[in-house]
Amino acid sequence: MAGRYPEEWIEQLRQRADIVQTISAYVPLKKNGKDYWGLCPFHGEKTASFSVSPDKGFYYCFGCKASGTVINFVMEMERMTYSEAVVFLANRYNMPVPEMREDPNWQKRREQRERLLSANREAARYFHETLYSPAGEPMLAYLKKRGVDDATIRKFGLGAAPDRWDQLTQHLREMGYTEEELRLVDLTRVKEAEEEKPRRVFDTFRSRVMFPIINQHGEVIAFGGRALGDEKPKYLNSSDTPVFNKRQGVYAANLLYKERSLRRVILVEGYMDVVALTQFGIKGVCATLGTALTEEQARLLKRYAPTVYLAYDGDAAGQKAILRGLDIFEREQFPARVLDFPDGLDPDEFIRRDGLEGFENLPALSPAAYRVRRMADDYPLDRAEGRADYARAAASLMAKVDPVEREGLLKQLSLQTGLSREVLLEQIALSAPAQSPARAHLPKRAARQIRESVPEGEPMDRTRAQETMISLLATGQLPKDVASEADFEDSQLREFYTALRDGKSPAALIEEQGSEADRARCARLMQPPPGGETDELIRMVEECVRTMRRSRAEEQLNQLKERLAQAQGAEKAEIMGRIVELTKTLKDMKNRT
Ligand code: GTP
Ligand code: MN
Repeated sequence: MAGRYPEEWIEQLRQRADIVQTISAYVPLKKNGKDYWGLCPFHGEKTASFSVSPDKGFYYCFGCKASGTVINFVMEMERMTYSEAVVFLANRYNMPVPEMREDPNWQKRREQRERLLSANREAARYFHETLYSPAGEPMLAYLKKRGVDDATIRKFGLGAAPDRWDQLTQHLREMGYTEEELRLVDLTRVKEAEEEKPRRVFDTFRSRVMFPIINQHGEVIAFGGRALGDEKPKYLNSSDTPVFNKRQGVYAANLLYKERSLRRVILVEGYMDVVALTQFGIKGVCATLGTALTEEQARLLKRYAPTVYLAYDGDAAGQKAILRGLDIFEREQFPARVLDFPDGLDPDEFIRRDGLEGFENLPALSPAAYRVRRMADDYPLDRAEGRADYARAAASLMAKVDPVEREGLLKQLSLQTGLSREVLLEQIALSAPAQSPARAHLPKRAARQIRESVPEGEPMDRTRAQETMISLLATGQLPKDVASEADFEDSQLREFYTALRDGKSPAALIEEQGSEADRARCARLMQPPPGGETDELIRMVEECVRTMRRSRAEEQLNQLKERLAQAQGAEKAEIMGRIVELTKTLKDMKNRT
């Protein structure tokens, strides 16, 4: 996972970026024994079950199983990617990031980025002030006409680009920004001289309502501007610049970032949809930036909530975009639902018509249910064959819909096709696909709920023995060479074992786990094993491992005997030798117990 950075350097960072100090900035911690304790920031609780171990270099919540190193903690709290968290900590603890230290252009690029971002910040301030000045009257009137109140205007930092040629450019030039900088960040455009006409420098955004696009760090990275009337284009967005890639971000990421424990993120198409839903008190709303949904955006949204609701316009284009969006979320294993707005309305229009209650009462359709609904558009339902084909196609999708949701769909389908409920049920049963073996992705927060799977007081089963062994090894209570790779039947446990044996620290091992569920399992195993005195545990584990080894040896012996029956010459002699050896080992094993 570290990939981009040398492992030794990451290890240095983990040690230098004091985990107790870093976490204390977010969660008050109290020392108790060797560890520090506090209220878990990842789930609501009243008694402290969140532990931070400076020795081991990781945190672990006994309640929700959230776990990880200082780097994981920053990833979670700051909603950063791995590399972002590494850079964040490196800056904070004054460790030059190797890759960047070696890059002579890096410092220059960083300075330029700062300049461009501050030009944008100044522009946003200018637009916002203009909105409440005489030059902004038409824009303010426009927003008021669309029902946007002052608090919402402030919340989104909305503004006005006046109906002038180059007022913003001049303003920013006076502040010391160069024409090149302003062009780079697409606040200024230039029309080069042509025949009679002189070179002309002008503001990119003129006579528009301005929506600053602010990322999760609060940086103004771009703008969208809406025309006041029917001028084209209706929305003008900043082109991609050194600080903006429209495929990567979402509108209102800054507000999303401030929310904790969102139940869902709501993805809409337009700026005005975000603004309207938010004004009605809905949290976690964001929009793509005038392009179709990308995989990067899907991945970004996964950081904020366990589910995404697609709330696109109810028109034909929106419906098509929903089907495409569902495919992307499915690929990214991010559970999605659809809000299907009636009468071709978009979320803004809908909530103004039907209010918050109407919005909250819209059914959140599963992907399959939504696909069934859309499918009807593809068949000529006024003809018997059309209805039959539709029924077959819909049934094949409905096998994946849960029974509660299916009930409603069945009624509807029965009405549309004139087929009885029983017939439809039979058809569904016919087209039920083979159960997919792949376990669906566990949403982030659900994964945290995974409880320890081993009930206490039961006889030591094989998996539990292997897990306990890992715990004992990781906490230094057993020497690494008592076990061998072959003792671990579970491939993940085998990986944990080889990593520990090869000297990887438990913290590093936890950090490199890709999924939340894997990380929780790994962190649990890096603790002393639960359930009893260590000596007693060691005895049980040894016994269990012995039984395992014995049954494996017996199995091998049987195989050898089978081969012996068919072997000839040298091979026969060799197999005989191994049988003798194994028989002796087995006898030793039995004598020891
Ligand atoms: P309103 O008419 O203001 O309610 O906007 P809307 O959000 O209903 O607009 P629409 O559904 O037409 O567009 C959704 C989003 O697509 C907008 O927020 C823009 O990001 C983008 N968009 C719309 N029109 C244009 C356009 O003419 N050019 C570009 N580049 N993007 C557009
Ligand atoms: Mn609209």
